[in-house]
Amino acid sequence: MKIDIIAGARPNFMKIGPIIRQLKIYNEEHPENAFSYRLIHTGQHYDRNMSESFFEQLDIPEPDINLGAGSGTQAQQTAQIMIGYEDALKQWKPDLCIVVGDVTSTMACAIVAKKAHILVAHVEGGIRSGDLKMPEEINRMVTDSITDYFFTTSEEANKNLRATGHGADKIIYVGNTMIDSLLSHLSKLRKPDFFSEQVGQEKYIVLTLHRPSNVDEPEKLVSLLDTIHQSIGEYKVVFPMHPRTRKVFESTGRSYENFIITTPMPYLEFMYTVKHASGVITDSGGLTEETSILNIPCITLRDSTERPETIHLGTNELIKDVEALEGFIEKMIQGKWKNAQTIPYWDGKTAERIVDALVKMDK
Ligand code: UD1
Repeated sequence: MKIDIIAGARPNFMKIGPIIRQLKIYNEEHPENAFSYRLIHTGQHYDRNMSESFFEQLDIPEPDINLGAGSGTQAQQTAQIMIGYEDALKQWKPDLCIVVGDVTSTMACAIVAKKAHILVAHVEGGIRSGDLKMPEEINRMVTDSITDYFFTTSEEANKNLRATGHGADKIIYVGNTMIDSLLSHLSKLRKPDFFSEQVGQEKYIVLTLHRPSNVDEPEKLVSLLDTIHQSIGEYKVVFPMHPRTRKVFESTGRSYENFIITTPMPYLEFMYTVKHASGVITDSGGLTEETSILNIPCITLRDSTERPETIHLGTNELIKDVEALEGFIEKMIQGKWKNAQTIPYWDGKTAERIVDALVKMDK
């Protein structure tokens, strides 16, 4: 079977790494039935800190092709990726296109593949927040409407897919490849350079913010940061700032004592910082999964989540209005937080299950 594997933005890289590693193992053990595959980077993320460092640290091979799509409006970015991928299909036509997650690259490449009569497999298919104001929800819905095989992370995702008429034979409940990456790198985490000098033995929380609804309007961003600053007491706040957030933050001219603001951190350093934190405040989806596995308290600053298992079984709490934030931060720093329970199939073996399923599809 010939396969294209698509990755474009930071959260994709932790999801494809384990699949590529597992395909390589399978090919070494079964040279007679080896899969041939290309890794295609769309170029949606291109800064070293947002892309290359993840390839190096997660031991992901160099992409076979980089489409160089870059930044732009949603339409510009989607169009650039689609044009680039359509060209890439002229050189080599796979039987299956594997897309992961919910970023613009996921949707754009799924559409191009499907129109070229290539089967589409969606890793992390079926999750829904119901919030159509987020581009990711549109990406999920469009991708899933043309997906042939869903590799799902939760029973909730399976239910969503069944409810929209997808047959049980196409829904393959495998777990979470982002957690494969986390578990296989736990023993290799690295203390960041700034840590000893700026954090030392002091207690801290980690903050990440990049959703347009939290960071694009300076007033909203400042109100969130002011509230965190006022509620956090003696704690430090390690805040690796996404480029989108930095642009707006710099325009506000604000600064906060006790905040350690860094550029986006490489994977091993970032996960080290999360693992040793008293808690995390974020608007990321992937980080709510990682904190749930690490049993680190997590506050999500969003109205909805497509990952309800991180609330029911994990350590995540959804905070919909800034007023409620102070009370939750207090609970967090007092250590009065729920403990994580086991999340089915988030066990580090998801990529194995995906490759087993690909082998069956190939027969
Ligand atoms: C994208 C994903 C989001 C994911 C996030 C992780 C979509 C719709 N959104 O959001 O789901 O959680 O990635 O980071 O796909 N920029 C740089 N350098 C880079 C990348 C981006 O400077 O390497 C800046 C550019 O100004 C760009 C902006 O960040 O316009 C936003 O990048 P973009 O890829 O459009 O969306 P993200 O906010 O990163």
